[in-house]
Formats: sequence, structure tokens, C-alpha cells
Amino acid sequence: MEEQTERDVVRGLKDVAAAETRISYVNPTGSLYYVGYNIDDLVGKVYYAEVAYLFLYRRLPNQRELDKFSSDLVAEMRLPKEVVESIQSTPKDCHPMDVLRTEVSHLGEFDPEGTSMSRNANYRRAIRLIAQVPTIVATLHRSRDGHPVPRPRDDYTFIENFLHMFKGTPPDKEECKVLHRLMILHADHGFNASTFAARVTASTNSDMYSAITSAIGTLKGPLHGGAGEKVMEMLDDIGLEEHVEEYVQGLLDDNKKIMGFGHRVYRAEDPRTKHLRGIVENLCHRQRTMSLYNKCTRIERIVHDRKNIYPNLDFYAGVAMDALGVPQEFFTPFFCSSRISGWVAHVLEQYEDAVLLRPSSKYVGEFGRPFVPIDER
Ligand code: CMC
Repeated sequence: MEEQTERDVVRGLKDVAAAETRISYVNPTGSLYYVGYNIDDLVGKVYYAEVAYLFLYRRLPNQRELDKFSSDLVAEMRLPKEVVESIQSTPKDCHPMDVLRTEVSHLGEFDPEGTSMSRNANYRRAIRLIAQVPTIVATLHRSRDGHPVPRPRDDYTFIENFLHMFKGTPPDKEECKVLHRLMILHADHGFNASTFAARVTASTNSDMYSAITSAIGTLKGPLHGGAGEKVMEMLDDIGLEEHVEEYVQGLLDDNKKIMGFGHRVYRAEDPRTKHLRGIVENLCHRQRTMSLYNKCTRIERIVHDRKNIYPNLDFYAGVAMDALGVPQEFFTPFFCSSRISGWVAHVLEQYEDAVLLRPSSKYVGEFGRPFVPIDER
């Protein structure tokens, strides 16, 4: 009999602290901190680029630093032509997340700094990725609609450029304001599954593109970032507002999960929900938003009464994106367009930590099976 060290398995790594981080803190009692700032003190008061800067440099920029950082982002938004051509040649019916995953990996082939892993090269790479992920998303969306993507413009901010490139129309002030808030709310969230995936890849000293490709593949899953798309499918499937009660009670009777609810860490309401609910409420003058909002608030009450759980980030976020004209299959790519700022900061932090993330497992298989040669099996 083989000797085996007795190990306790922590199923799903629940409550396991896998490393230290200074980037964000998810407080189970219902608050979220970005580099020490409560998100309630940031949302609506800072621009998304300020938060991206905060993650990279661990402090908020002054005006001059913000202006420089924002213009650096805009200057880095253009994609290599090979990547644009590859996006344009993807099958029309494949999921945008598949394209995003492939094209971020593809960007790695054209990195102007090659394989350099110097700290400065990695910071510049981080800025390029924050700038270029939204461009991949916009390019795919415009090319699927049969249009070229507008070039980034120096007289537009980063967020204005993203909206302009995605929609092909001049950026609308209200939409830009909403997008800053949405992107700030999606920017980071502790050691969630995709961030952890990025850090595991980075912990092998692999390059940043590989780490972000791992993260994108992980975010895609419906238990993570893919939940937003499923929420919208449910809202559409419900049909009329009057059908909410019967539909949701039916799902719960069948022990089905309600997408956009529950959280591994929070034991109280997700601190992002109040902001998202408020964003959607303010957008209720837009086509179809009022009806979606009414359905959401009804679902929230029913699920809370029966299961004592709360909506998470993905519940109202999809409705907000829908109000901005983002199609359902682009919800998770939009999520990525903002979470990229958290991911690259975590990758940089992981490089500093310089430890291989490699857990063990508890072997529950057999030992001592008699070997049988192939011609006797
Ligand atoms: N609908 C109904 N019941 C739920 C839900 C839900 N969405 N989420 C959790 N529960 C119940 C679950 O049935 C279980 O009940 P019981 O103890 O009676 O068996 C209890 O709550 C604990 O659930 P769990 O699945 O063991 O919790 P977890 O920490 O493993 O999972 C989760 C967390 C987010 C995967 C889960 O809540 C879920 O699947 N939610 C739906 C998918 C979703 O909205 N994902 C987005 C996550 S947050 C944003 C992001 O990261 O992208």
C-alpha cells in the first residue's frame, strides 16, 4: 500500500487565501475597496482611467498624470492590421468571447517589446492591453454589422473612443457617464476565478498575454462573467412583467439557480448592486429599459424572500448595457473591456510576488493495480 499524506480538500477553495493583494478587498459584509478606497467614494466621482491608473500605480493620479495616462491609452488603442483582419474573418455565429480570447492571444505575437519581461516592458504591455481589449470588442461588433470600425480620435477621451468605435456614432454624454460607472464597477473584484486564473498563469513567469487569455476563458463561464447574458435570456424568456412570479417560483421549485444571484464571498448585498440598480433606474426613459427594470425588481424580491440571497454584479449590469445598445452576446466582452485593468494589475503583482501557484490534491484513486500488457487486455 502506498503511503499518502492525509490532506483536507477545501472544496471550491472556499475561503482559502491563495496570496496577498493590495489591489482590491471584497468584504463579505457588503463593501468593496479598490486600493484602499471604498467604491462608494469612487463611483460617479472619478473616471474609469483614474481607476485603471490606481490599480497600476496604487495611487490616484493628479490632473496632469491623468491627462497623460488617458492620452497614452488612446494612442495605444489601434490594433495591428493582422489582428483586425483576423477579427473580420471570424465566423459570424461564433461567440464574441471566443474571438476575444483568440485575438488577445494573437496580440502577443505583435508585441513591440517581444519577449522582454522587464518591469517597464510589462507596465507598457499592461497599458496596451487596457487600451486594446475594448478595440477588439468594438472591431468585432462593427465588422459583424458589416461596417469598418472608426479610428481612435485624439480629441475623444478613452471612453468616448470606445463608445464611438463600438457604435459608430458620435459619443453621447449620458452614455459616456454610464459607461464610466459601469466600467469602474466591473474593474476588479479580489481573487475571483478569472483573476485567479490569470495569476496562476503569471506565477509560472509566463507572459501577460497568456495570463489574460487564461482569464478571458475563465470569465466566459455562466457561473462567472457569462451570467449577465443568461440573465437577459431569462428576462426575455419571462415575457410580460405579470409572468415574473410564476416563472421565478417555478425555477426555485425545480431547484434551479437564478442567474445573477448569489455570491461566493458576500453574505450581504453586493455593494455594486445599488449603483447598478440606480444606473438602470436612471435609464428607464430608454426603450424597453423600464419593463426590464420592473421585472428585475420583482425577481429580486421573490428570490430574496425564498432563498435569502441577493443579486450580484451581473443581474442589473446586462440591463444597463442593453440600454446602451450593447447586444446580449457582447455583455461579457464589455465586462472584459473593463476587468482587463484589474487583471493586468494582478499579473504585475503576481510577478512581484514571484511564487509559483501550485496547490496539491487529495488522491482518491486506486493503488497497486496489476499491469496487463495491451495484447492481453
Ligand atoms: N439561485 C438559487 N439559489 C442559489 C443561487 C442562485 N443563483 N446561488 C446560490 N444559491 C443557493 C444554492 O442553491 C445553495 O443553497 P443550499 O445551501 O440550500 O444548497 C446556496 O445558495 C449556496 O450556493 P452555492 O452554489 O453552494 O454557492 P457558491 O459559493 O458555490 O456559488 C455562485 C456562488 C455565484 C457560483 C452561485 O451563487 C451561482 O451559481 N450563481 C448564479 C450564477 C451567477 O450569477 N454568477 C455570477 C457570479 S458574481 C459575478 C461574477 O463573478 O461574474
